[in-house]
Amino acid sequence: MAFFRLYPTIPAPTLVRGEGVYLRPADMRDYEAWTELRAQSRAFLTPWEPTWPADDLTRTSFRSRIKRNHQEIASDEAYPFLIFRDDDVLTGGLTLGQVKRGVVQAATLGYWIGAPYARQGLMSAAVRAVTVYAFSTLRLHRVEASCLPHNEASTKLLERTGFTREGYARSYLRINGIWQDHLLYGLLETDPVPLRVARPNKN
Ligand SMILES: CC(C)(COP(=O)(O)OP(=O)(O)OC[C@H]1O[C@@H](n2cnc3c(N)ncnc32)[C@H](O)[C@@H]1OP(=O)(O)O)[C@@H](O)C(=O)NCCC(=O)NCCS
Repeated sequence: MAFFRLYPTIPAPTLVRGEGVYLRPADMRDYEAWTELRAQSRAFLTPWEPTWPADDLTRTSFRSRIKRNHQEIASDEAYPFLIFRDDDVLTGGLTLGQVKRGVVQAATLGYWIGAPYARQGLMSAAVRAVTVYAFSTLRLHRVEASCLPHNEASTKLLERTGFTREGYARSYLRINGIWQDHLLYGLLETDPVPLRVARPNKN
């Protein structure tokens, strides 16, 4: 099914602000910090991600990634962001991908946090910020996400940021080289924003 695009004139995102974090698309000045953080976080991330290509951390591959990101943003197909703490430290990444327009108006959320920055509330802050951006600036109706049933961090993150568990898809994504079942989650523009429970030293 083809989804024609209703919002070809969305301004390219420059900065999305959250609580204690900001998000922006990557550019070449991020290469060193990005590659260092991904290398350092490899063991933490690889059980939950598609298999990394052999050249994934090279400058050439990063340049291609940036080019692809800019094309995707320009064509309203995906909005890939890096996540920075307010003190400008790169902490992770998040993508609103597979944007569908027409009668769907939805996108799929994917995310990763660097191992040294896990469990500090940063991804919760980033997801809250990007869903506001998705519903206000991008005028989407729905944001979807999926995760492995045993990914406790990811399921907690989604539930904490207001997503509802909607289903279960068998053999849904090829993660770490294996087709694996996933839980399916959704957040609607009309869903209530969950109350935030204060946690000491956390978002
Ligand atoms: C999932 C992920 C992005 C969460 O990022 P984060 O910045 O650590 O998340 P937050 O600190 O905002 O915490 C969100 C919730 O998850 C919980 N959580 C985080 N890490 C956890 C862990 N290892 N085990 C159990 N719960 C965890 C937090 O306690 C919090 O829930 P709570 O409010 O009920 O306490 C991060 O763990 C990650 O990148 N994991 C590896 C890659 C991955 O799983 N990607 C997603 C694939 S679907």
